[in-house]
Amino acid sequence: RFEGSTIFVTGGAGFIGSAVIRHLLADTGARVVNIDKLTYAANLASLAGYEGNPRYAFERQCISDDAGLRKLFDKFRPTAVMNLAAESHVDRSIDGPAEFIRTNIVGTFSLLQEALRYWRALHPDGRAQFRFLHVSTDEVFGSLGRDGLFTEQTAYAPNSPYSASKASSDHLVRAWRETYELPTLVTNCSNNYGPYHFPEKLIPHIIIRGLADESLPVYGDGKNVRDWLYVEDHARALTLALENGKVGETYYVGGRSERTNLEVVEQVCDLLDAFAPSTRGSRRDLITFVTDRPGHDRRYAMDSGKIERELGWRAHENFESGLAKTVRWFCENRRWWQDILDRGYQRTRIGLG
Ligand code: NAD
Ligand code: DAU
Repeated sequence: RFEGSTIFVTGGAGFIGSAVIRHLLADTGARVVNIDKLTYAANLASLAGYEGNPRYAFERQCISDDAGLRKLFDKFRPTAVMNLAAESHVDRSIDGPAEFIRTNIVGTFSLLQEALRYWRALHPDGRAQFRFLHVSTDEVFGSLGRDGLFTEQTAYAPNSPYSASKASSDHLVRAWRETYELPTLVTNCSNNYGPYHFPEKLIPHIIIRGLADESLPVYGDGKNVRDWLYVEDHARALTLALENGKVGETYYVGGRSERTNLEVVEQVCDLLDAFAPSTRGSRRDLITFVTDRPGHDRRYAMDSGKIERELGWRAHENFESGLAKTVRWFCENRRWWQDILDRGYQRTRIGLG
């Protein structure tokens, strides 16, 4: 698979991007170029061991910098771009939306423009194989009621600065396809979790605080529902979409694992009690309800039927197996997350509960 291909993975030092790179290097023959600005959320330690791999290169580069991108397209002549570079944390977008506009909207615009320039230069002889896969989120569709799922027909209705910026980027990608015929595909997926997840997100935040016997903040009444997808299943879905997806199409990826936040936190507590018992008793006693996130979407859930039917994708993990692997990974890889805590990333006002 992907023999002779060169794939740009933007945001490859982040949570999902690094999982995609590990998957591409382990399970395909592609050469991978990791293009990442290295924001607070990046961690090259997630790719430790790949530095000397002849199929892997890292380039520190902002996706809003046209000239820098142009040099990379001309240097590596990629056959595909997987765009995962983004500001990704909803609470942070409420505290300070500007960087979300710059990276998620302007950055996607720059990347599309440079991809178009490069693709057009290659295209005239008709031999050039090129694809641009844009990775997006279920949050662009807003909040569901008690029933139903987001389907590929659901209208956009973003509610946070983060989701509005991602929705804008999806629209730009669509327009570059319709207007300029750039061969694009879009995927929208639900909440990922797994190893190498940045500590500010719900599951790692609860694991790390739980290991220190600190209070476990649950926003609002804890009844907001997310559809959890194990990150390695997502990485396989993205690779399949890039390989066999139809240009111009959108694919939804979900975990068929809807849980309330409170259920998730309780399950993490029970796993921590099993893997790393505390002398102070049950972690569930540490659960603390805190002020809700403004504009907090109540429920997300994805219908993954299309990618399952058309591309043969299936999630390998269910929530129980995936969460157990994740909690165990955080227990066994303290160095990875302790280094991030020691670097002292800036917490959000909301996250402080
Ligand atoms: P992340 O925050 O862990 O990683 C983002 C990466 O992008 C970081 O390495 C960062 O340095 C890099 N980056 C940020 N701004 C950049 C810029 N201007 N130029 C180059 N690199 C830049 O994010 P993630 O959770 O891995 O998410 C990856 C993508 O998947 C994002 O587009 C996100 O919107 C989308 N997504 C994430 C989830 C999820 O649950 N994590 C779900 C659905 C969709
Ligand atoms: O749905 C996909 C989205 O999932 C992605 O597009 C985003 O990039 C990703 O960050 C994630 O967004 P969420 O806002 O759903 O993830 P987060 O981990 O921040 O929060 C998950 C839920 O848990 C949400 O309902 C808020 C709640 N929460 C979060 C934290 C950090 C808490 O109750 N307590 C917390 O401490």
